[in-house]
Amino acid sequence: MKKAKIVYPVALGLILGLAWMCNSMKAGMAEPTPEYVGSDVCAMCHSDVVKKWSFATHRRTLLDKDPAKRGCEACHGPGGAHVAGGGDKTKIIRPQLLKPEDAAHICLKCHTQEKVTLWPTSQHARSKLTCTKCHDPHSVGEKSLLSEMDSKRLLMEGLTKSIKDAELAVNALPADSPEKDAQTKKLDELKAERVKLEKSLKSEETVYHQSAEPYVCYNCHKAQEVQSHLPSHHPLEEGKMKCSDCHNPHGGTNGMLKEETVTETCRTCHAEKAGPFVFEHVPVTEDCTNCHKPHGSVQDNLLTQPQAFLCQKCHANTHAPRGSATRFAERYTTCTKCHTMIHGSDTDKVFFN
Ligand code: HEC
Ligand code: HEC
Ligand code: HEC
Ligand code: HEC
Ligand code: HEC
Ligand code: HEC
Ligand code: HEC
Ligand code: HEC
Ligand code: HEC
Ligand code: HEC
Repeated sequence: MKKAKIVYPVALGLILGLAWMCNSMKAGMAEPTPEYVGSDVCAMCHSDVVKKWSFATHRRTLLDKDPAKRGCEACHGPGGAHVAGGGDKTKIIRPQLLKPEDAAHICLKCHTQEKVTLWPTSQHARSKLTCTKCHDPHSVGEKSLLSEMDSKRLLMEGLTKSIKDAELAVNALPADSPEKDAQTKKLDELKAERVKLEKSLKSEETVYHQSAEPYVCYNCHKAQEVQSHLPSHHPLEEGKMKCSDCHNPHGGTNGMLKEETVTETCRTCHAEKAGPFVFEHVPVTEDCTNCHKPHGSVQDNLLTQPQAFLCQKCHANTHAPRGSATRFAERYTTCTKCHTMIHGSDTDKVFFN
């Protein structure tokens, strides 16, 4: 009796053990346990991506102890099966084929900066954009926006300079000399190289257009592009300002602005207009867009309409009754000729100073 008591549990244990082994083998066949191989292995076949990547910001992930957050496999998942299959592309995560929210999740597992995690609240996420519409995850760019073209442009400048130098050299050499022939050949080679580069720049013009703000935004926001070219505009084209000085492209409460409200956003650079003042001008405290268009206007000072009309929208019966010539002129002149402190004043209730 005593023996049996021991044998039974042992047998049971054996059976359970076998069953567990079979089961895990079966599971193993259907769905191999993820196997991380490391980025050096990827380099064997994807030298182009890796070469570019060796200067990229994301290279810093190589320092991570967790293989799920290290190198190529941080975004593409474990590469064991892909490699064993000789580069079977069905066995590697291809983010461009995922649902936009799943693709974003790959990035958001590391990017926990507050302004980025707003992403699900943004119009961009709701419109099914992916992070890669603006960022190149393999890029060497400082902000991971596409920047390849910048280096090509530099190369172009360099080549142009070399061609100029070579031309000078050719002209300086005596005719029919072997030196001249050699220099002429070199010049032709340089010119051919430039033609090739020019062609490649042309074919990648759209890429160049994405290379930095505001161009990356213009790709989709044509209306704002048009407005940026109106006579009065914020200096975006001039490179002194970016869309992201006012907007957070990753989300936000009100129109994806960087601050809670329009006025708070404007205040970050124009504090002297936003008050507080002893004598406030009500529409200013309310919202700067009562009078200004942020993106561009045909009126001076980004005004929504000609000044006299703008003011009379709210001040229909001001001190200038229609009729008398001087009064008429006053009514249709620039009100701020006299009401200079139009955003508010600490000393004058009609905003003279
Ligand atoms: C043995 C060579 C080899 C190795 C090693 C290898 N790959 Fe690949 N990879 C390929 C081939 C071949 C393709 C498929 C190309 C095709 O069919 O267009 C591919 C495709 C891919 C794709 C899909 C490309 C697309 O067009 O969407 C990704 C992503 C990828 N590999 C990532 C990796 C990563 C990450 C590693 C390292 C973990 C890796 N590969 C290692 C050969 C390899
Ligand atoms: C930070 C995340 C991230 C890392 C790290 C990363 N990739 Fe990618 N990779 C992506 C995304 C996202 C795409 C899809 C791009 C798109 O949507 O067009 C992609 C696309 C690709 C493709 C197919 C398209 C192409 O550009 O050729 C290959 C191949 C590839 N990756 C290989 C690699 C290799 C090799 C490494 C490591 C050296 C690597 N990736 C590291 C995110 C990453
Ligand atoms: C494994 C973690 C990890 C993943 C996944 C990841 N990143 Fe990163 N990312 C980093 C690290 C680390 C940096 C380096 C900057 C830093 O230290 O904050 C970085 C930098 C960046 C930067 C530049 C920030 C700067 O300040 O220059 C951008 C943009 C970016 N990542 C976008 C993405 C996108 C888009 C994806 C998804 C395709 C992604 N990242 C996936 C870890 C990651
Ligand atoms: C519509 C374009 C756009 C999209 C889509 C986008 N970004 Fe950005 N991202 C930017 C711009 C522009 C900047 C630089 C300005 C800034 O810091 O706000 C930036 C900056 C970043 C930075 C650096 C933040 C820092 O603290 O300096 C990270 C990280 C980043 N983005 C990650 C992501 C991730 C992850 C996604 C997808 C969930 C994403 N981005 C989607 C445009 C975009
Ligand atoms: C791939 C296309 C695409 C790119 C690139 C893009 N956007 Fe958008 N954006 C959209 C779409 C789609 C919407 C939602 C519909 C609309 O308002 O046009 C949107 C909406 C917005 C809104 C309005 C948000 C709201 O709540 O009304 C702002 C602000 C914005 N984008 C800013 C930017 C900025 C800044 C950039 C560049 C860093 C940028 N976008 C790049 C497609 C894009
Ligand atoms: C000076 C600050 C500022 C700059 C710079 C700026 N915006 Fe805006 N943007 C705003 C404000 C303010 C709104 C209105 C938000 C509201 O009323 O809720 C807005 C609204 C938008 C909207 C929503 C539609 C609309 O016109 O009301 C889009 C899209 C947009 N901006 C895109 C862009 C793009 C793209 C750029 C760069 C080319 C850009 N913005 C530059 C301040 C700015
Ligand atoms: C990131 C800083 C910044 C923010 C935020 C900002 N501005 Fe500006 N603003 C500027 C700069 C720079 C100029 C150009 C000044 C110059 O050329 O001397 C300017 C010029 C202007 C002008 C004069 C335009 C002209 O044609 O002379 C107006 C009006 C204006 N901003 C209104 C606004 C409003 C309204 C907001 C909020 C929606 C805003 N700004 C947000 C930086 C900013
Ligand atoms: C009641 C209409 C009105 C409102 C609301 C308003 N402004 Fe103005 N703003 C004007 C007028 C009119 C001018 C032109 C002044 C002139 O001709 O001297 C102007 C000019 C400006 C200028 C450029 C001139 C300069 O002195 O630099 C800036 C910047 C500016 N406003 C910022 C703002 C900001 C920021 C807000 C919101 C806090 C705001 N404005 C709200 C009417 C308004
Ligand atoms: C969106 C409506 C609106 C616009 C546009 C507007 N104002 Fe006003 N303004 C007001 C309101 C409301 C008051 C406060 C009236 C009150 O307290 O009785 C005010 C007050 C004033 C005052 C102080 C005197 C008073 O009656 O309290 C002056 C002066 C003035 N505005 C001039 C202007 C000028 C000049 C412009 C054009 C640059 C202008 N306003 C544009 C709404 C507006
Ligand atoms: C030649 C200078 C001058 C011009 C130009 C001018 N104003 Fe005045 N405005 C004044 C003076 C002076 C007062 C103060 C009257 C008082 O203290 O009783 C005043 C007072 C006001 C007041 C407050 C009293 C009232 O009548 O409601 C408003 C509002 C006003 N102006 C609006 C405007 C508007 C709108 C324009 C442009 C269409 C304008 N002003 C152009 C000189 C001017």
